[in-house]
Amino acid sequence: MLTKEEVVQLLNPVQDPFLHKTLEETDGIRDITIKEDKKHISVKIGISKTNTGEQMQMQQEIVGILKKNGANTVGLRFEQLPEDIIRKFQPAAEKEKEAKLMGGNANTKFIAVASGKGGVGKSTVTVNLAMALMRLGKKVGIIDADIYGFSVPDMMGIENRPQVRGKKIIPVERFGVKVISMGFFVEDNSPIIWRGPMLGKMLNSFFSEVEWGELDYLLLDLPPGTGDIAMDVHELLPTCKEVIVTTPHPTAAFVAARAGQMALKTDHEILGVIENMSYFVSKKTGEKEHVFGQGGGEKLAEALQTKVLGNLELQQPYMEEDVFAPSVYQEDHPNGKEYHKIAAKVIAKMEE
Ligand SMILES: Nc1ncnc2c1ncn2[C@@H]1O[C@H](COP(=O)(O)OP(=O)(O)OP(=O)(O)O)[C@@H](O)[C@H]1O
Ligand SMILES: [Mg+2]
Repeated sequence: MLTKEEVVQLLNPVQDPFLHKTLEETDGIRDITIKEDKKHISVKIGISKTNTGEQMQMQQEIVGILKKNGANTVGLRFEQLPEDIIRKFQPAAEKEKEAKLMGGNANTKFIAVASGKGGVGKSTVTVNLAMALMRLGKKVGIIDADIYGFSVPDMMGIENRPQVRGKKIIPVERFGVKVISMGFFVEDNSPIIWRGPMLGKMLNSFFSEVEWGELDYLLLDLPPGTGDIAMDVHELLPTCKEVIVTTPHPTAAFVAARAGQMALKTDHEILGVIENMSYFVSKKTGEKEHVFGQGGGEKLAEALQTKVLGNLELQQPYMEEDVFAPSVYQEDHPNGKEYHKIAAKVIAKMEE
């Protein structure tokens, strides 16, 4: 019959399914009792996440090992590993998972742009933050994760469709920013009627079927609300940080706070709040008019224990004759300059 030491030797190489570390490394073999006469072994195992399908698999693996080595019966109990051990190994495991999504590239940082309410400027912010990061020398991609309400291609004036190379889709490049959107895969803008589960799959495909290449930043334009997609993003990209967009109106900020609260709940760091359509500058007098109220951004940032990253004014980009990109602010546009400052803050925060 096996001794305790032998059981330890046999189970040490078994891996924690979430941390990708062996039980030896996680100190996951918590207790062993052996009943010689009945050839019964009971073990208590520490795992990083209990009551999961992965735990079931681990259970089968351990029972198999012990029975093969002489146990008649095996009693197995699982408990959660101590927080400090999980904290020690989790970041590396999360990065590893994300690097796999990016075809092995471990250097991509993810930023999701969210708000509780529709129409506050998430897509505009995503596009222009991407542009500003690009202007600062970063390699940038955008996932238009608003599957039903895709708008990024139109906003950037993208007219071509992605190429397919081998089995992979190559994102469309516009101003050096790589873009993938559901809009590329539907005919003549016809509405999409897929339901919930499709959405999650779509997001997965935007990684598994797309060749992103080397990226410093991948921005995700989320659909309004705190729905399925946001949850999928959290699940898929555990290190993804969030930028919350609001308008200065206090109620808009209140709704945006819900998205922020969710980010906090799921343990996602909020980079900051961007207040869009903050004010209008009168062309006649040069005065600032707070047409949508005032203070929403500050209020929201306070509630989420974060900072306001910037305030964009209510203003269209300059009209250009040769370039059509209706929502891209030029570098010398007041909003272009503000996005430049915001992007610099974002880089400082992400690369600190
Ligand atoms: N600072 C601004 N000044 C003027 N117009 C703006 C500004 N920001 C956004 N807009 C316009 O407001 C509208 C809504 O913006 P946008 O589509 O970015 O919001 P959204 O939050 O992504 O909306 P949805 O929830 O529908 O995805 C667009 O027509 C956009 O061009
Ligand atoms: Mg949008």
